[in-house]
Amino acid sequence: MLILKPADIPSSEITPESIYLNRRQFMGRSLLAASVLTIGKQALAETDMALRDLSFKPVTKDKASGYYTDETLTPYEDVARYNNFYEFGTGKGDPAKYAHELTTDPWSIKVEGHVEKPGEYALEDILAKLDIEERVYRLRCVEAWSMVIPWVGFSLASMIQQFQPTAKAKYVQFETLYRPKEMRGQRSRTSSIDWPYVEGLRMDEAMNPLSFMATGLYGKQLPNQNGAPLRLVVPWKYGFKSIKSIVKIRFVEREPATTWNMLQASEYGFYANVNPDVDHPRWSQKSERRLPSTLFSPNRILTEPFNGYGEQVASLYKGMDLSKFY
Ligand code: MTE
Repeated sequence: MLILKPADIPSSEITPESIYLNRRQFMGRSLLAASVLTIGKQALAETDMALRDLSFKPVTKDKASGYYTDETLTPYEDVARYNNFYEFGTGKGDPAKYAHELTTDPWSIKVEGHVEKPGEYALEDILAKLDIEERVYRLRCVEAWSMVIPWVGFSLASMIQQFQPTAKAKYVQFETLYRPKEMRGQRSRTSSIDWPYVEGLRMDEAMNPLSFMATGLYGKQLPNQNGAPLRLVVPWKYGFKSIKSIVKIRFVEREPATTWNMLQASEYGFYANVNPDVDHPRWSQKSERRLPSTLFSPNRILTEPFNGYGEQVASLYKGMDLSKFY
């Protein structure tokens, strides 16, 4: 990543899960009241206040599925204020500062490649056919910090099925919006990223039940800085696989190009599975700072293989040398 050693972020007050869960009972009441309940005393940016409450099936507290963890949730303030979204700058605070400049409505998604139903789809038409649900996932960044986030969205597999991929579709590539007028990082002359941001998954990874498309978090629409209106969440892979603000999905036969791999192949592989046994060439991946984390209270925990989702996904990589396919 461009940032070698992420700076410690100031501590935030933790929103106890009980407060968040109780909050669901208030769905439908005034947005302001709901926001205050969720986020407590922290000041909310005006843009976040305007985010709509979503309706969704609350998470089932079944840890075996991998859809749920009872670990302490990372407070909303950290989830929405400490971001990587290089289209808006390289600083962790840049996305929260500048992502409101992006227009996310109307939004459509182009579907290309080996599918029976290619075309350009309005996001609302895709969503209308899907069951919207909640999942509580860990997200582990390659920079060795992590969060626990209550996402709202749908399984990636359920969306892919709508487009009917053919037998030739072995991989799926995702692409982020390219709109330099509204994304100041794309206007930057110092950026080494070749826009648009692209990511990819093997087809069986994409169809795994854990792979998720998020439209919201903490019960509300995604803040722009977290990838509105639609972003991928692949909880057993490093965070950079979880591409934001997707406008194109391409079904292909060969392993597709991915942004970080193109930038520095020796450091960022295509697979990018969370793996404490394979260090990044410049730092260890054995442990992580669970946010919120400060210099005095680093909240450091050991990193688990596949970010703790080995039971659900390890079989996808049977027989593969994971130090070679990193
Ligand atoms: N998607 C796009 N389009 N651009 C980005 O810069 N950063 C990635 C990923 N998705 C990124 C992106 C990285 S490095 C991480 S760690 C996660 O988004 C961060 O997600 P969050 O800011 O919602 O925590």
